[in-house]
Parts: sequence; C-alpha cells; structure tokens
Amino acid sequence: MEIVLKLVLVVFLVLFVVLFIFSLVVLAIHHKTGGALFVPTPKVMIRELIRSIDFSSFHDIRELGCGDGRFIRAVEQGYGVTVTGYEINPLAFMVSYLMLWNRRSRVLFRSFWEEDLSGVDCIYCYLFPDLMERLGEKLGRELPEGARVISSNFPIPLWQEDRIIKAQDTIFDDPIYVYVKGRHLPNG
Ligand SMILES: C[S@@+](CC[C@H](N)C(=O)[O-])C[C@H]1O[C@@H](n2cnc3c(N)ncnc32)[C@H](O)[C@@H]1O
Repeated sequence: MEIVLKLVLVVFLVLFVVLFIFSLVVLAIHHKTGGALFVPTPKVMIRELIRSIDFSSFHDIRELGCGDGRFIRAVEQGYGVTVTGYEINPLAFMVSYLMLWNRRSRVLFRSFWEEDLSGVDCIYCYLFPDLMERLGEKLGRELPEGARVISSNFPIPLWQEDRIIKAQDTIFDDPIYVYVKGRHLPNG
C-alpha cells in the first residue's frame, strides 16, 4: 500500500513540475505570441488545404508559428517543395525540429515579427484574433504582389479574401481564409 502511495505522489510531483515549467514557458513568451498558444490545425483541415491549393506553384513558402510542423510535413510530402517555419515556443520548436529532421524543410527558433518577408510568395498561419490586424499591416507592407496568404480560422481585418476553404467535416469545418496580395483591399 505504501509503495502505491509513493508512486501516486511521484506521478503528481512529475505532473506538477511539467505543468509548472509549461506555465513558465508560456508566460515567458507571451509578449511575443500575443496569446497564440500551441493549438495544432486539425489534420482534416490540413488535408483539405493540400487538396485545394497547388503549393508547387510557389517558390518561397513560410509558416508563421509552425507548432509541431504538421503543415510543413504535409506540403513537402504532397508537393515535394520545402517550407520554412518559425516557432517561438521552445517545446513546440523541439517537436517540429525532431519531426523535420529527415526533411528538406526547416523550422527556425525565431519570432516571425522580426523577419523581413519581402520576396515570400506564400504564407500559412493559424494564430490568434488579436494578432491579425498587426499581421495584416506587416504582410501588406512586405509581401510582393500576387503573394498568397492562408489563415486558418481567423480572418485578417480589413482584408478581402479571395476564397474561403472549408473541410467537409462536421466538427472541424472552421474557415480557412485565402488572400491574394494586390487583390486584398476591398476597394483597392
Ligand atoms: C495556434 S498554434 C498553430 C500551430 C501550427 N501552425 C498548426 O497550425 O498546427 C500557433 C503557434 O504560433 C506560435 N507563435 C505565436 N507567435 C509567434 C511568433 N511571434 N513567432 C513564432 N511563432 C509564434 C505559437 O508558439 C504556436 O505554436
């Protein structure tokens, strides 16, 4: 009985330490993530994206906040092209780094806010509503005409989408907004 109690205590202690470290990490990076925590895009939505968009037509694809790298892997697997991801959460970075170790795509432990994205012709992101206006301003300044911006779940305020993709799924049918730089302003 005593051994069982000790085991339960150890499990609780380990859980507590893991949660504590996780909370510290989240707090430490909050000023950069603006609340965009690591929540992966559902696989069914990734599949729909891969089916709906021809990623082989782009020469520089970036994912802003790539989480575990599932989008990157799916694009490389589906189209044979590489993607560069940015990730600021050390735990998510480590996972995506490991998941991509045998691929040509890469993940950078860096905030995408600090990157100059001029020249990039395809952006994918799944972030957080509070960030989208600032992101729209950055992408509006930096991306070349014709660049594609794909945002899962959250639209870019004041931008006019080119199309909205939805997975044929009863649970994961959140909209995926697709914008084309140059045609993104309603009266532009
Ligand atoms: C909602 S998750 C989406 C993860 C992944 N894109 C996916 O769709 O499965 C958002 C991710 O963006 C990352 N993130 C937020 N702000 C960032 C920043 N400034 N630079 C790099 N990564 C960031 C977070 O750490 C988090 O892992």
